[in-house]
Amino acid sequence: MAIAMSGTATAGGAAGTAERYYRRFTPLERIMHAFLMLTFVGCALTGLPLIFADKPWAATLARMLGGFEGAGLIHRICAFVMIVVFVSHVLTVFYRAIAGGNLMRILWGPDSMVPQLQDGIDIWRNFKWFVGRGPKPQFDRWTYWEKFDYWAVFWGMFIIGGSGLLLWFPVFFSKLLPGWMFNVAALVHGEEALLAVGFIFTFHFFNGHLRPEKFPMDVVIFTGRIPEHELKGERALEYERMVREGRLAAAETTPPTHESKWFGWVVGGAALALGIVAIVLIVYSVF
Ligand code: HEM
Repeated sequence: MAIAMSGTATAGGAAGTAERYYRRFTPLERIMHAFLMLTFVGCALTGLPLIFADKPWAATLARMLGGFEGAGLIHRICAFVMIVVFVSHVLTVFYRAIAGGNLMRILWGPDSMVPQLQDGIDIWRNFKWFVGRGPKPQFDRWTYWEKFDYWAVFWGMFIIGGSGLLLWFPVFFSKLLPGWMFNVAALVHGEEALLAVGFIFTFHFFNGHLRPEKFPMDVVIFTGRIPEHELKGERALEYERMVREGRLAAAETTPPTHESKWFGWVVGGAALALGIVAIVLIVYSVF
């Protein structure tokens, strides 16, 4: 860690002591995650005051965001960008699979986000490890909890995006749908938003940053680079596969710059702090 924070490490351990780094996320994936983060926080900050409109903090927050009208505008801009990011992501997944000549890799194999039998085994083994009844399991490219986070957002997009579009364009949709659908959409949108905010700001943040192995901040999604000890320690099966397939050297990259790590710390830390405040406010308002 001392080496990682010093910013003096050199690529590939050229100095003999510096840690090696491997590419985990492409620049496009990092940009998409950044937009998803920004737009999610934007939607949450501008939507929550509507749910808790009778609470003083909600009125203050809405005022800071330009009143309920200004907040509504920000909400729609964030929602639009979020939908664009989601559609681009789905297109990218298909494009990569088709360009790689193997559509099945979307559904199957270690790079797939689709849950496999191995994930069930990993859950069992990890829970055994939690209670001291077995060794720590080894993971491949994606752990079962990362897949869970992914699908929570993926399906959530259809529910929150679909209901949100109904609320956004009621005149258009009223030509196609019965009136009661709008009441359902309003209910579903608010409840799903609470679920999404509750999940992302607790489970996702805990998995990403607050586990003992990651605490207090994992900047891999900001830098795109994973240090060798983490790849070997947390994703040993992926590391072994990369060695076996002769892909390790090609995946090696320069260490993250000092600036990119601080950027990750500042942006990740701000999101984490906002998330914790939002959870405290929700819990305080509900009880
Ligand atoms: C992704 C596409 C989304 C669309 C198209 C969308 C659209 C909308 C619209 C049109 C409204 C009514 C706002 C108003 O009248 O000013 C609304 C309300 C709301 N939105 Fe979204 N939204 C989206 C995503 C999100 C997300 C990701 C969250 C939370 C993380 C969220 C949370 C809320 C909340 C809490 C409300 C208030 C609901 C209520 O009054 O019960 N929205 N949304």
